[in-house]
Amino acid sequence: MLFEGWKMAFYSEGEQTEDYLFKIVLIGDSAVGKSNLLARFARNEFYPNSKSTIGVEFQTQKMDINGKEVKAQIWDTAGQERFRAVTSAYYRGAVGALLVYDICRRQTFDSIGRWLNELHITILVGNKSDLKDAREVSTAEGKSLAEAQGLFFIETSALDSSNVVTAFQTVVKEIYNILSRKVIQSQELKKQDPGWMGNGKTVVLQGNGNPEADGQPKKGWCCSS
Ligand code: GTP
Ligand code: MG
Repeated sequence: MLFEGWKMAFYSEGEQTEDYLFKIVLIGDSAVGKSNLLARFARNEFYPNSKSTIGVEFQTQKMDINGKEVKAQIWDTAGQERFRAVTSAYYRGAVGALLVYDICRRQTFDSIGRWLNELHITILVGNKSDLKDAREVSTAEGKSLAEAQGLFFIETSALDSSNVVTAFQTVVKEIYNILSRKVIQSQELKKQDPGWMGNGKTVVLQGNGNPEADGQPKKGWCCSS
């Protein structure tokens, strides 16, 4: 089962509200534009001369998914090799990821394999689509790698904003959809055993970092325009 091994915590809070908090990460080589994708998504800002991220930073963003409020805790990790030990400790706990490369630097596309690991829901993101003349990796190549690895795929530009919101939404929506199916199952369990803990209102989902927990291939899907 896809989410087997995940920790699910339920807390009773307000009667009517249901809250979802998903931890997702931005990963990929240095300077592909991870921090700028987050800046564009969370604050509608862009930094032409941004500094390399040191370690990890996170930001919580509210999103509306199917009329429900979902909070995405988005972790922006450093792409530089020297931070790899620190960042991998963070992305292990995530349930979703945006795996970003720079369409103008083939090297960042070639190293995608190094970043692929146990992450459950991953979208492959070819960033800097505004730099048409400097393109080194075609859209077809991106799509085909994503299909081969069972990942979602999209091309974005943090500079001109294209597809940035869709990229984040795709991951969060997919997690939400899978979780909704899980909650339906847990309600069934509750009916059978009313003492079961799954009767609260807030659901916090975190991966347990166990790659073996997910033996199933991920669903491929392309949303690049
Ligand atoms: P690390 O923190 O070192 O891992 O890098 P990063 O992936 O966070 O890259 P960052 O967001 O700092 O962006 C690196 C450079 O690319 C900056 O100069 C950005 O202005 C530029 N950049 C980011 N996204 C885009 C984009 O969509 N288009 C263009 N033209 N430049 C971009
Ligand atoms: Mg950064």
